[in-house]
Order: sequence, then C-alpha cells, then structure tokens
Amino acid sequence: MLTQRPIIIDTDPGIDDALAIAIALFDARLDVKLITTVAGNVSLEKVTYNTLRLLHFFGKDVPVAKGAYKPLIGPLVDASDIHGPSGMEGFDFPEPKQKLLLEEHAINAMRRVILESPEPMTLVPIGPLTNIALLLSVYPEVKENIREIVMMGGSVTRGNKGVMSEFNIATDPEAAKVVFDSGVPIAVATLDVGLKALVMPEDTAQLPALGKVGQMAHCLFQKYRGGSFRTGLKMYDSCAMAYLLCPELFQIAETFVDVELAGSLTKGCTVVDLKGYLHQPANAKVCVDIDGEAFRKWFLKSVGQCV
Ligand code: RIB
Ligand code: CA
Repeated sequence: MLTQRPIIIDTDPGIDDALAIAIALFDARLDVKLITTVAGNVSLEKVTYNTLRLLHFFGKDVPVAKGAYKPLIGPLVDASDIHGPSGMEGFDFPEPKQKLLLEEHAINAMRRVILESPEPMTLVPIGPLTNIALLLSVYPEVKENIREIVMMGGSVTRGNKGVMSEFNIATDPEAAKVVFDSGVPIAVATLDVGLKALVMPEDTAQLPALGKVGQMAHCLFQKYRGGSFRTGLKMYDSCAMAYLLCPELFQIAETFVDVELAGSLTKGCTVVDLKGYLHQPANAKVCVDIDGEAFRKWFLKSVGQCV
C-alpha cells in the first residue's frame, strides 16, 4: 500500500514554482494538504492569484492561504524581470477558483493543518522563508509535528540575487536565519543544483506532446528568463520536489548552515560549512550536486504524468 507523504507547499509562483506545484499535485506519493503564498517573485496578491489559477487549470481543489506581503525587515525586491510582470507570463490560465482561498492567514492555516495531521508534516518552501519563520516564531509548538523542511534556497558557492546570495534567501535573510536556527530537520535544494537542473532545447521540444501541463510549460517557458531555450531553462523549485521524490539524483552533504546578516557585501549568503571550520553541529542536509542528465529524464517523466 503506497503511503502518501503529507506536505504543505509555501510558494511564490513564479514560472518554476508552477511546474514544481504540478509535479507535487499529480504524484501519488505526495498529499498536498495546503498551499500558502508568500511575496517573492512578484507581490503577494499576484502570487496568490497565480496559485488559484494554477489549481483551477490543474483541476485540484487544494486550500490556499495568503501569507506575508513583504519580508520581515526589508522591502520586497521582486523577480518580475525573470517571471514577467504577472509572475506567470506566457499562458492563458482560467480565472482563479476563489472558493479555495481561506480567510485564515497562512501561518494560522499551517498551524491548524500541522497540528491536526496524524502524520508529521513536511513543509516545502519554494520562495522566501518569511511565512515559515513567522510560523516557527509565533507557534513553536508546531515543531513537534514537522517531519522536515525541504526548501529550494541558498547556495554553496555563488548567488543569483547578489554576488553570494540566492534569491529566496536574499529576499528575506532574517527569516532564513530563523529557519536554519530552528532545530527543525532541514533539506536544502541549493542554487548550485538548480543551475544544473536544466530543461534543454530537445526537452522543451517534447513538452507539447506531454499533455496539458507540458503544453502549459512550453508556453510559460517562452517568457521565462531563468536561463534560456538555447542554454537550458533552470528548474530551481522542481529540485525541492525531486529531493522528495527522487533523492538519488543528488549528492547530499549533512553539514552546518548559517545565514550572513551583517556582511555589507554578503548579506543573505548561506554559509555552508562543508569543512567544519565553524565547529557547529550539522543542521541541514545540503544538495551539493545533481545528476543533470537523470534530472532531465525525471522532469519530463514527471510532467508527463501530470494528467
Ligand atoms: O533562486 C531561485 C528561486 O527564486 C526560485 O524559487 C524561483 O522561483 C525564485 O523564487
Ligand atoms: Ca519560487
């Protein structure tokens, strides 16, 4: 009997988020109990609107709860240059299913769903960590029933939002610090693997034949600026789902991770202490490499099962 792993996705769609959400919703091994939205790629209103449109298109009635409209401390600096002004340019989605939108704030909905779950919950944040930090700070009791936080974020080496910082962490570094300091088991699908999780031209060409989600992806990818058709499109957020569904794709190091908050040049950098210089106990399983060819096969197979 297949046991389904209960998860909550915290997201900022976002073109790569859209594919990650689809893969999770259509895989029988995952049970998506709730989707929460967070300001990141574009504004909270837009990412929430996009989430509701995605669920209508996918035909999945998962409850949605709106979260933080800005990072804990700084202003929101979005990624509309990558995803387009709407956050999901390129495809004509149906109107959102407003009935899926809960009145509850995301952290209250997460608290309820986590504490009600007979199975420990896995949180899958694929945007800035603002909601997760607020949840753990306001309702620390939820830690008792959280199995793991599997995030897309951070980098072992260089950044994509700053010289050394990855977008999700750099957008809300203080929130990231709260999460990495929380003591909750953490897995990190880093930028380093995201940069190698590529959809190449020969893959993109196959998408329209893979059903409605493949057709959606092919349209969105015309506008997606996370890479290019020619050099490969970066499926950052799908790496978090791949960690859950196909962990053998990754080389994983269990190590200590901290977040730089004071660096004038490096704020938002995830310091991944692979050599143990800081003499701190490991607090995260970090994806340090990925089999890119195997990822491409896994991604296409996963999109093809979204029917
Ligand atoms: O750095 C990649 C991350 O930033 C992804 O989650 C992408 O959706 C953007 O939010
Ligand atoms: Ca994202």
